[in-house]
Amino acid sequence: MNIKNVVVIGSGTMGSGIAAQLCNANVPVTLLDLKTEISEKAKKKIFESKPPLLIDKSKINNIRAGNIEENFDLVKTADWVVEAVVEKINIKHHLYEKILKTRKKDSIISSNTSTIPLKVLSAKMSDDDKKDFCITHFFNPVRYMGLLEIVSESINDVKKINFLKNFCEDSLGKGVILCKDTPGFLGNRVGVYAMQVAMIEAIKMKLSIEEADAVFGRPMGIPKTGVFGLYDLIGIDLMSDVLKSFVKELPTSDVFHEVAQEIPLVKNLIENGYTGRKGKGGFYRINKKDGKKVLEAINLNSGDYFPSKKIDTNIEEKAILKELVSRNDKYGKYAWSVISKIILYASSLIPDVTKDYNNIDEAMRLGFNWSKGPFEMLNELGVKFFVEKDKELKINEFVKKLYDNKTDAFYGKRQIYTNLETLGKVKQLAKIKKDNKSAITYEHKNYKIVEFNTKANTLDYDSMDALKKASDKNLIIINEGIQFSAGVNLNYVMDFAKEKNWKAIEKFIYHFQMTCKQLKYSNNLVISAPSGLALGGGEEVCIQSDYVVAHTNTVMGLVETLVGLIPAGGGSKEMLWRWTQTQEAKKDPDFAPQKVFDIIGYGKTATSPVEAIPFKFLLEKDKSIMNRNKLLSVSLNLINDKKNGYKPPKKPIFKLSGGQVRDKMFQTLENLLKEKKILEHGMEVGKKLAFVLSGGNTTIDKELSEDDMYALELEAFIQLMQMEKTQARIKHTLLTGKPLAN
Ligand code: NAI
Repeated sequence: MNIKNVVVIGSGTMGSGIAAQLCNANVPVTLLDLKTEISEKAKKKIFESKPPLLIDKSKINNIRAGNIEENFDLVKTADWVVEAVVEKINIKHHLYEKILKTRKKDSIISSNTSTIPLKVLSAKMSDDDKKDFCITHFFNPVRYMGLLEIVSESINDVKKINFLKNFCEDSLGKGVILCKDTPGFLGNRVGVYAMQVAMIEAIKMKLSIEEADAVFGRPMGIPKTGVFGLYDLIGIDLMSDVLKSFVKELPTSDVFHEVAQEIPLVKNLIENGYTGRKGKGGFYRINKKDGKKVLEAINLNSGDYFPSKKIDTNIEEKAILKELVSRNDKYGKYAWSVISKIILYASSLIPDVTKDYNNIDEAMRLGFNWSKGPFEMLNELGVKFFVEKDKELKINEFVKKLYDNKTDAFYGKRQIYTNLETLGKVKQLAKIKKDNKSAITYEHKNYKIVEFNTKANTLDYDSMDALKKASDKNLIIINEGIQFSAGVNLNYVMDFAKEKNWKAIEKFIYHFQMTCKQLKYSNNLVISAPSGLALGGGEEVCIQSDYVVAHTNTVMGLVETLVGLIPAGGGSKEMLWRWTQTQEAKKDPDFAPQKVFDIIGYGKTATSPVEAIPFKFLLEKDKSIMNRNKLLSVSLNLINDKKNGYKPPKKPIFKLSGGQVRDKMFQTLENLLKEKKILEHGMEVGKKLAFVLSGGNTTIDKELSEDDMYALELEAFIQLMQMEKTQARIKHTLLTGKPLAN
């Protein structure tokens, strides 16, 4: 068995996402739709998508576009045919008949349906065909969502299903969970229930949508979109269709029905085109008032929109669950009523829907980006606490058994859906050191792991401390949460700036530099294994590690100039050193400084390892990995491969032309200012960057050490921090999540 050629039928949201991911895996794929124009348009959309569905845009022609009339013959040669057409059973049945008549023997056929049972899809197939037919339920957007549910029946060829699972794990990078043919499988069954409960309880308890999202969000380990934000993202109309199918498929005894009734407000929104972000808006909308864009939120009671309010729930970012649900205010009550219902619903599905409760937690992680699933929440709360907190709670068999047996903490192994040695598994085996709130250190066998533990894993003094201490052994810097690090914690820096405590900022940045230096020159290997954001300080940690094992969905860049700063944790000098090694730099001493001036000055970012290499954010020796679950094992293999005879790198010596190259950079800045591409403050930032990259007051015949370069970075950083305009930029970014336009 091999998958070398795939046909995807239906080039809508999901079909094009699946085709793009196959293209990312270097598997030639054909997208067929009713007309070639439709699939051609889909191909164009894939190319232009943001965030990009493609890891390497130059590979776009690995995707061919065609139509189901003239190009159907391609099915003859396909090893796998994926059906991703509209959710209409007649259309699907008609297609299967055609595919099964045409396909080559033994090829795999799958549907991406999210709501139609496998037995209904395959009702008209022969037993032989049923063996090769299954559901492959991808999540949107396919490149970025980790979960793939493969649904099969007892008639299926087990070997083939396992082969497909391995292929989708290895080549497509998915976390593949094998599911039974039950409505909504695992992810949506629990995820959609959770969303409905969170919405209905918010209405019942008269919470505003901002309040609900502030509780049913980060404090619970759920993405900050919360429930109403997620509704808008998925599409309110799509959610309504999914709910209808749950109502149709689930037995009347299932408590899902209690939360699946149509809500008049939702019906009204859909009828008026408020289907979410793709429509006129949804629970939230952007309105224009006096030429300004205003974010508005709907009032659940009246259906009117009002300017959205920032809610201060006084709940910590990563709240302790027990404390959260024990709070005696409306937020605590809301959290308890939602969490308890989700736990009860999820546990009612064991063992009929799955005997492995662990798989439900992992489905919530991979498919909904929750940082813990309902069973982990129950384990964290403790069964005794859960049962005794609320005497009214109608507990089910699963919970009762644990309670009766006095099994308070019941959780066994994690991530049993995969054979890979994942971070999640190793964390359970390792010795944990939690002496620091910004990072957790694990020790296992002959190596250590540091996992950052702050919002978006921003870095502060403590994060650096953890790294510094952990580099006494071979070290892997890796996170289970999606983001590696969004950079230095700007709130932390701004608190000092408000007090004009420049000394404290200087101390922190110096500590940052010395930590990175230690990572680079310690006698042990240091490997950064990023995914998601590796920006600013996060990227500086990466480039001063010995190797980077990067997930294919890593966004890298030194973006400090966007907030009016420069990379000062060694990022500027390390990039300069990397570019100094090029052939061009050997011929022209000003080549490297100018190149890095461009890259950092424009705050360039790469959205994949393939894009990162031309900037030298990554080097050829680094690795690019499709499956996040493999980041740890690949890093470990690297350690084992390289540890014998490992020597830290030689210290660089810089020879820079100072004023000579700086003049050229200043000229570039003048031109940008004239063209109004930058403003006065941008000019100031550019000049400071130029000063650092040109080596300061030096000439080409002088040698500068790495420490000299660190000192230049530090000086420039502090000077920029002292500027009111920089502080205003940082404040804006902290408030809106986005840097100012120019
Ligand atoms: P879509 O509406 O974006 O795209 C459907 C595509 O199928 C359209 O391009 C349409 O022209 C084409 N099509 C219709 N009849 C066809 C035929 N006979 N032959 C070839 N092409 C035909 O739909 P979407 O959202 O991509 O959904 C596709 C499937 O994936 C559905 O079964 C849906 O339930 C499932 N799904 C959707 C998710 C989502 O978030 N949109 C998530 C997971 C599964």
